[in-house]
Amino acid sequence: MGSSTARRRRSLARAAALGCGALLTGILATGGAGGTSAPSAGSPDRGRTVYLTRGCGGCHDASPVGDERPAGPKLEVKAMTRNARAAGRALGPYVLESIVAPRAFAVPGYVSGAMPSYAQLSTRELEDLVSYLIGAPFAATPAARIPKRPVAACDASARCRSTVARWRRVASLPASAVPGAKITAAADCLTCHRYAGSGPKATTAPDLTRQARRKRTVAWLVAKLRCPDCRTPASGMPSYEALGTANLRRVAIFLRASRGVQR
Ligand code: HEC
Ligand code: HEC
Repeated sequence: MGSSTARRRRSLARAAALGCGALLTGILATGGAGGTSAPSAGSPDRGRTVYLTRGCGGCHDASPVGDERPAGPKLEVKAMTRNARAAGRALGPYVLESIVAPRAFAVPGYVSGAMPSYAQLSTRELEDLVSYLIGAPFAATPAARIPKRPVAACDASARCRSTVARWRRVASLPASAVPGAKITAAADCLTCHRYAGSGPKATTAPDLTRQARRKRTVAWLVAKLRCPDCRTPASGMPSYEALGTANLRRVAIFLRASRGVQR
């Protein structure tokens, strides 16, 4: 009981850490001063300092004289989670977007355009700020375990190739499902999910071998992979937005072809 709670908490922290937005990857790739390739995660403690020194509280905490309401919304996790869901994003990427591109989503009841963009901050400062606001380490850069070209990454690994060859045989996968199978095997899906006997023995994540039975559409699956929390609050599954739409569709096609181990 206690250990499963701890595991869940860890996986939630990881989910936040793995979140990423395509738009922001672009901004951060060109902008940030902390542009090392090693995956990093922000620190809530450092983020508090950035929040204070950049004057965020001037709008988000203080009331201007003569007005009882601050210019910006109170930055509470509950309200931000609600707004993130309305914007179709996971919490971390949503908060990051709110800071670098505030006009992308108008918080109900507030004037859109009233907040300046902070896209000039370094990657490190942005990750720290988001970590502070969501209360968990957040990494804007995609984690190393989500390869940039996942199909090629699988082709380059003998182990990944043999896993997919086995899946293809035992689950009678059509050729159209193979690219998505490679992506699933090359990304970190199998750290939580099982597929045709691959993956962890004990897991709370559903076995994906017979995912076809759930009759999810490609669009549903792509949206789920992009923002797991939008479908299931505090899902425990990270966002795979970093894979890009074409790859997410390949994974969806693979999952829709997964009818279980055929005997
Ligand atoms: C000039 C006032 C102002 C300053 C300074 C400001 N903000 Fe904002 N902020 C706003 C307003 C107004 C909104 C809501 C309107 C919108 O979404 O554009 C907002 C929205 C947000 C949101 C989305 C909140 C939600 O509930 O969904 C986040 C996150 C945020 N700001 C973070 C920051 C951070 C971090 C800083 C400092 C780096 C900052 N803001 C500085 C005015 C400001
Ligand atoms: C950190 C653990 C974790 C990782 C990594 C992970 N998932 Fe999940 N996934 C979950 C959990 C927990 C659920 C059940 C809760 C939910 O629906 O969000 C889930 C749900 C799903 C579902 C929804 C099933 C349904 O029909 O309701 C699909 C599909 C899925 N995962 C696919 C994937 C794929 C593909 C990957 C890799 C690209 C992946 N997951 C990576 C934990 C994970």
